[in-house]
Amino acid sequence: MRIFSGIRASGDKTLGNYSGGFRQYVATQERAVGEGGEAFFCVVDLHSITTPFEPEALREATLSVAAWLFATGLDPDRSTVFVQSHIRAHAEAAWLLGAATSFGELRRMTQFKEKAEGQEFVSAGLFNYPVLMAGDILLYRTTVVPIGDDQRQHLELTRDVAERFNQRFGETFVIPEGEFPEVGARIKNLQEPDRLMSTTRGAPQGVVRMIDEPDVIRAKFKTAVTDSGRDIVHDPEAKPGISNLIEIMAVATGAEIGDVEARYDGAGYGGFKQDVGEAVVELLAPFQQRYRELRADEAELRRMLAVGAEKASVASGPTLEAMYDRMGFVPPLR
Ligand code: TYM
Repeated sequence: MRIFSGIRASGDKTLGNYSGGFRQYVATQERAVGEGGEAFFCVVDLHSITTPFEPEALREATLSVAAWLFATGLDPDRSTVFVQSHIRAHAEAAWLLGAATSFGELRRMTQFKEKAEGQEFVSAGLFNYPVLMAGDILLYRTTVVPIGDDQRQHLELTRDVAERFNQRFGETFVIPEGEFPEVGARIKNLQEPDRLMSTTRGAPQGVVRMIDEPDVIRAKFKTAVTDSGRDIVHDPEAKPGISNLIEIMAVATGAEIGDVEARYDGAGYGGFKQDVGEAVVELLAPFQQRYRELRADEAELRRMLAVGAEKASVASGPTLEAMYDRMGFVPPLR
């Protein structure tokens, strides 16, 4: 089993990233180690330049996301944690895979449409983003990709591109499977429960950031939008607000959805919202402390990433060579 997942170096990471990302990375790390497999987790900084960005902020965001990966439980001895731009193969693979990706399929990507909408400058990079992501995954001969629901379409494209390349140029890539959490694959904005929780869109008051202070978290849950009625039941169609809060409670405490419903049967919305906020405060507190420790020693953090880059280079190099070779490029004389 080969695990690969990536997380963008941009903005502040959210409770949504925890649910669909960090939490799953740690779970799959344990599984990969148990089964004698390997796990790769990548801060995808090359993806961060597809929307408007500031160089200084990119530097900060890259180190910040790396620190969150370790703070939430990735272990540099058991997983390979690295920065995408440290491995040049990613940019090269994206260029080569462009030959096996059609304009039409990229144009259909909903994330591209959402992010491009209303923007004055839509970069070519934003359009090509899924090709870079496909390269990330395929370079490592990945079998399992833990992601949230919003990345489902990109994973489908990756599989299509890999199959097309294999057919056209000969067996080169393993076809990866996506792995989505059963609960919490799509955490919603607390103010706008029909919208994904994300720092790029939606009401900031409804976005819980990993770094938020306890009182800020409590206030965000206190003001969370609920639905009409008063029953605490999981019904995403009829009760998107309460269903989202139930899922967050399940993610934060490890309880089943049914247990949360049973526990709050007949209780009011107010007390429930307060308890969810408290559960999230408790969930995040140890991660925040570890995050601050990691950020206090930048040299050590970068050393950990250098170890990861070395392992990632060894793992991805042969796939890139095979791609050049199968596509008919003349290798340099050595
Ligand atoms: P990114 O950086 O936006 O998000 C990282 C992970 O967090 C998940 N996620 C969520 N899950 C549940 N609820 C939410 N509200 C929520 N918001 C974000 C995402 O699904 C993701 O798993 N394109 C990717 C990064 C990437 C990648 C890869 C992922 C680049 N190359 C290769 C896997 C494999 C992205 O933008 O994720």
